[in-house]
Amino acid sequence: MKSITSDIHNCNVVEMEKNHNPAGNITVYQNGSPMPFDVKRIYYLYDVPGGSERGGHAHKELRQLIVAASGSFDVIVDDGRNKKIIQLNRPYYGLLVVPGIWREIVNFSSGAICLVLASDKYKEDDYIREYSEFKALKKSVDVD
Ligand code: TYD
Repeated sequence: MKSITSDIHNCNVVEMEKNHNPAGNITVYQNGSPMPFDVKRIYYLYDVPGGSERGGHAHKELRQLIVAASGSFDVIVDDGRNKKIIQLNRPYYGLLVVPGIWREIVNFSSGAICLVLASDKYKEDDYIREYSEFKALKKSVDVD
């Protein structure tokens, strides 16, 4: 997957294994199918104040699976040509965000936990933080 040619159709919701039980449910995220990549890092956003927006960047190589471990929020994915909004509100759905996609995370419900499983360790030089730089990268492959 080259970040320069990726598009939002590569960003799909993956349904994970779940174990329903009257005493409480378990969802398992582990390397191997249906996880789309091997996980090297996990982090989560929490205590997000109402009205806050997170994300606002793209990655050059990193793949991520974004999960609403609790509550709900919307993820806007943008490939420089098209955008789509995915509402995440169940802990057994993970949104795959491939490299070369600008993402914003908005509309956090009260107490929401945004769990992110990532394919690599934190590397600041993997980020594209300027939208103009992102647009220029994606535009370089436009044919029309
Ligand atoms: P960032 O990824 O920009 O957050 P978001 O996209 O959710 O708004 O990260 C915010 C800050 O946290 C930034 O200064 C880098 C730091 N950070 C780490 O040190 N390690 C990590 O694994 C992550 C994800 C962020």
